[in-house]
Amino acid sequence: MSDPVDRLLDAAESGKSIIKNRDILHFSYIPNIILHRDSEQKQVTQSLLPILKQSRPSNLLVYGKPGTGKTLVVKRVISKIQERVEKSNFPIKLVYSNSKEETTLYGLLVSLGRQLDLDEKELPTTGLSISEVFKRLLNKISEGKINAIFVIDEIDYLAQLIAKTGKDILYQLTRANERLEQGSLTLVGISNDLTFKEKLDPRVISSLGEEEIVFTNYNVEQIKKILEARINEAFVENTVEDSALNLCAALAGGEHGDARRAIDLLRVAGEIAERQQSDKVTTKNVKEAKQKIEENKEELSLEAFPLHEKLIILAMMKANGSSTGEIYSSYKNLCKIVGLDELTNRRITQMLSEIELSGIITGRLIHQGIHGRTKKYKLEISSEMIKKAFKDELTLKDII
Ligand SMILES: Nc1ncnc2c1ncn2[C@@H]1O[C@H](COP(=O)(O)OP(=O)(O)O)[C@@H](O)[C@H]1O
Ligand SMILES: [Mg+2]
Repeated sequence: MSDPVDRLLDAAESGKSIIKNRDILHFSYIPNIILHRDSEQKQVTQSLLPILKQSRPSNLLVYGKPGTGKTLVVKRVISKIQERVEKSNFPIKLVYSNSKEETTLYGLLVSLGRQLDLDEKELPTTGLSISEVFKRLLNKISEGKINAIFVIDEIDYLAQLIAKTGKDILYQLTRANERLEQGSLTLVGISNDLTFKEKLDPRVISSLGEEEIVFTNYNVEQIKKILEARINEAFVENTVEDSALNLCAALAGGEHGDARRAIDLLRVAGEIAERQQSDKVTTKNVKEAKQKIEENKEELSLEAFPLHEKLIILAMMKANGSSTGEIYSSYKNLCKIVGLDELTNRRITQMLSEIELSGIITGRLIHQGIHGRTKKYKLEISSEMIKKAFKDELTLKDII
């Protein structure tokens, strides 16, 4: 037998790869041609056009389910406008930030500020109040007589960040333009959550939603065309079987036509096929990819649980039974081993219901005659998965 490492390196060198350019399959890649979205591209462009004539576009709200091309379309339009702006000498700035990538509102505002060329001295990364950060952003716009467009992607997450700090920053943002002596500010919000608007203050709705564009769902046929274009660019010719392509499209198009999911399936299936050293992506690879993506998602949601929820899940693995009482005593035991103060039975019962919402465990009520009723819980994922997801949590290292 040859050396296993050499064998893999040989195979890689002999060029038996089927993915020609991996970057093209990354979600941040902006393809040259955007299919099925002419009208949305036109609408976004038309809405932002006034900026080129040095006047202020209306605030804009873009909605649609995940994977319907919102980020792609808006990013492409702003980069096209930016290209033209660079040729002129107008002080126009189009900046983009994604709320999901920022953990705080402060972080989000700083990221916008940096793109307006505010440096660490003018806008420090920590330490100011939100209203001061805000003031500095507006001063910069006003002093530079800048016409600015702030694109805030996944703005529904921002609403959550704000809910925590309890500020009406969205209102201030959408009305910021009124506070400017010179220059202007337009806000473009993008939301995956169609009910986002209902959760907002009516004052915010009326100012943020001066204009609205809704992205409809792709159907299976449209997803298939998007995949075909991506395959042509990213894969070596004839390395993706038609049946595999169809399955990706059907799986991703089945629910609401999520192009991101379709491309993810394609990429992971391609990677699996390469790893198996086969020269074609087959339906089997797509099914394997689907499973792998689902497992990853479960692992991520397990990792994200707070410590005591993790302890409860481990307690379920180790308990002598599945009733709330049995889980609680197993949990208390684990707390003792790792040296943590235990929470009350009542709190744990509450947490079990919360964990149940994630689908990782399921519960059912059992009637026990004169003894009343009790709830029994069952884990819906394997112990291996749990151990893998918790392996980096230092506190738990002695009980995994
Ligand atoms: N019409 C399209 N043509 C080509 N690729 C698309 C199209 N729509 C979406 N995609 C691709 O699908 C993925 C998800 O699109 P994205 O714009 O991020 O969706 P959203 O922001 O609506 O969740 C990205 O990789 C994007 O490049
Ligand atoms: Mg998006």
